[in-house]
Amino acid sequence: MNTAVPQTEDAGAAASAGPTDTLGTSAAQARSAVLEELIRKDPGRFRVLTGDRPTGRLHLGHFFGTLHNRVRLQELGVELFVVIADYQVLTDRDVADNLLQHVEELVLDYLAIGVDPARSTIFTHGAVPALNQLMLPFLSLVSVSELNRNPTVKDEISHSRQSAVSGLMFTYPVHQAADILFCKANLVPVGQDQLPHLELTRTVARRFNDRYGAGSAVFPQPDALLSSAPLLLGTDGTKMSKSRNNAITLAATADETARLVKGAKTDSERHISYDPATRPEVSSLLLLAALCQGRSPEQVAADIGSAGAAALKKVVTESVNEYLAPIRARRAEYGQDRAHLRAVLSEGNERARAVADATLAEVRAAMNTCY
Ligand code: TRP
Repeated sequence: MNTAVPQTEDAGAAASAGPTDTLGTSAAQARSAVLEELIRKDPGRFRVLTGDRPTGRLHLGHFFGTLHNRVRLQELGVELFVVIADYQVLTDRDVADNLLQHVEELVLDYLAIGVDPARSTIFTHGAVPALNQLMLPFLSLVSVSELNRNPTVKDEISHSRQSAVSGLMFTYPVHQAADILFCKANLVPVGQDQLPHLELTRTVARRFNDRYGAGSAVFPQPDALLSSAPLLLGTDGTKMSKSRNNAITLAATADETARLVKGAKTDSERHISYDPATRPEVSSLLLLAALCQGRSPEQVAADIGSAGAAALKKVVTESVNEYLAPIRARRAEYGQDRAHLRAVLSEGNERARAVADATLAEVRAAMNTCY
């Protein structure tokens, strides 16, 4: 097998982590612990691909959920590819509004948090034709009923703003497999909702190799690296989301942050305690302050004691603003130089195109379609 994660020498550890061929979160968590160990030992054998849809600015949920993990991996010496998934915007809406602006904002966010374009590749999949061409053979490898079963797609359909479900909505997980496999990434840091897509990617890789590999593997079967960060709620107590106006963005000013936190939902109990099950809103605020302070939410709660929600919000605002200050300063600085942003993106696209062309050449050779 051509995966960079050895399947034999680490068989003991991998076996105790359980099979990775299930959607089980606990299996993915256990596997992730094994992977972390392998990354520490030899970061050079990992290539990460991850990405975001360009639909708006990134927020603290993204930051603590995945962004900060990307930079950590980059700093450990893992090679990083970040896709700005422009085609994926069209899954749940008819038109991708302000696409160029959203794409540039994402590049700004990435640079501000420390993604280094000298070591990492930032690209838009729309600018990489060979990546998109991989979708055709990949589609032939999955059945309609497999596509129908995808729980993340089902959930997105139920929240979609479209009256009819497009073909892209059903097939974008296959396109996502192309995002991952074009550069032969073997590691994909994900939240739980992306596990079905990663499982499909593994299936596509396996079936391609079986059908066309003639004994050798064209594609690795990438592993999910599950984020260990607990879920942050939005300021209204529901899922933090760009579209719900309940998210603190990386780009928000200190005043905007203060206003959002001030309006955050809490409860009527004066004594502040960390109890996500019974006090989800207060606990999420505590968690946010704790993540920014690098302490536990229980410690933050103990500091506040019976001082009430107003005191909690003051702590949260100060912690977030202090933590984000250097990121926001860098963001403002990079924002001054749009030409640099565009250069970062066009160099990233160029690099991604070279990688995708090479992979497509291999695929065409394997499929006997070189004319
Ligand atoms: N589906 C991801 C999201 O909605 C974005 C994405 C596109 C992605 N391609 C990817 C994530 C490949 C990981 C790997 O956030």
